[in-house]
Amino acid sequence: MNNLFRTKDPSFLHDAASVRLKPTLTAFDLVFMGIGAIIGAGIFVLTGIAAATKAGPALIISFMVSGSACAFAALSYAELAASIGGCGSAYGYAYAGLGELMAWIIGWDLLLEYLISVSAVATGWSGYVNNALVAFGISIPEAWLKSPLQGGIINLPAALIVCFIAVLLILGVKLSARFNLVMVLIKLSVIGLFIAIACSHIDPTNWHPFMPFHWHGVMAGAALVFFAYIGFDAVSTTAEEVINPKRDLPIGIITSLIICTALYIIVTALLTGVMPYTQLNVSSPISAALLHLGYRLAAATVAVGAIAGLTTVMLVMYYGLTRVCLAISRDRLLPTYLAKINPKTHTPVRIIVINGIINVILAAVMPMTDLAELVNIGTLTAFILVCAGVIVLRHTKPEMERPFKTPWSPLIPGLGIIFCLYLLASLPVVTWIRFIVWMAIGMVIYFGYGRKRSLLNTVQ
Ligand code: ALA
Repeated sequence: MNNLFRTKDPSFLHDAASVRLKPTLTAFDLVFMGIGAIIGAGIFVLTGIAAATKAGPALIISFMVSGSACAFAALSYAELAASIGGCGSAYGYAYAGLGELMAWIIGWDLLLEYLISVSAVATGWSGYVNNALVAFGISIPEAWLKSPLQGGIINLPAALIVCFIAVLLILGVKLSARFNLVMVLIKLSVIGLFIAIACSHIDPTNWHPFMPFHWHGVMAGAALVFFAYIGFDAVSTTAEEVINPKRDLPIGIITSLIICTALYIIVTALLTGVMPYTQLNVSSPISAALLHLGYRLAAATVAVGAIAGLTTVMLVMYYGLTRVCLAISRDRLLPTYLAKINPKTHTPVRIIVINGIINVILAAVMPMTDLAELVNIGTLTAFILVCAGVIVLRHTKPEMERPFKTPWSPLIPGLGIIFCLYLLASLPVVTWIRFIVWMAIGMVIYFGYGRKRSLLNTVQ
């Protein structure tokens, strides 16, 4: 039989203690890791631009459309994470249900999603921190804030934050989860502050016209703010480090998404309700709205929340990146040298360091704005494959134990596929071309390296 299409029982290959992770996380940790990964640049930066240039006050509908696509995908993730598990997330589910080639494609796609998110968010973080430092009279020379491609030397703050997070991840997942908890509480407090102030200053005339760019504007807005939801999928990469994964993974994935969706809809309604959408084309719309209402101190506080928010997004995405890499290298589709777990910290130190170096180079030397859309295309593709995985596995492995079942399958996963395809179609052609180039590189690596060495093809 052609090994390309052989699937594997995900549990049988990874028993050696040297490649095993230690379970320490609870459902509480997972909910906060989900919120940590989800709330970030999407709400603190993109909402204003999306309201002003894409959807107007109807951005609230854009958030509902993207949120629905994510909800369908999240239910599918919850089913596969609880029944198949593994730190490779969608990569592992594809390996179990769709064969090695499909698994590699999705794994390579996940590496793109997480790698680019960390680097892109690091450059955004650098901008926010620089603004905050300027407010305190400290200025970093231009050359140390820009990549060589932008005429500078290196984006130093971006490089430093990636190094800081790498150290945190090396020290252990529980410590990372505690740091994440503190940062998430800060960002939630800031969002709470905005909600508390804004809800008594709504001027309903700001909601007219409600849909100035018509339905296509709403959809273009949905494709853009989809970015704001990305991150709940990273929760599924914790599977091997959760004490009770069958119960806690669905709780972590679904609860974090519900909380964030509710917050996004409330914040968007308030943002477009307190200020005309035409004035929201700024990089810090929540601060801008508070300044517009005359709350200067609260506006400054939002910067702190945004910095905390971006930090946790990087932390959880970087975490997800290392776990997917670990799963792929344990299967020998990437060098097994990477798959070693440090016996003291119980973390994959080699993978964290190597990915840190790649992240630092990307964040420090590349202008990231264009590449950020690549994150959306990569994630949407992963969501489609996970939804498809639920449908396929219900047929091919009906007997598999499913502690959580996606309701109304195949309707819900099918809707997930349709919504994600619709959002994919709203992305620019240039993003598609970049994505195809990335996937082509992946194919060269698979056929040139992984296929010959993979565990599935060498251990019979
Ligand atoms: N959802 C994450 C953010 O908005 C990626 O920054």
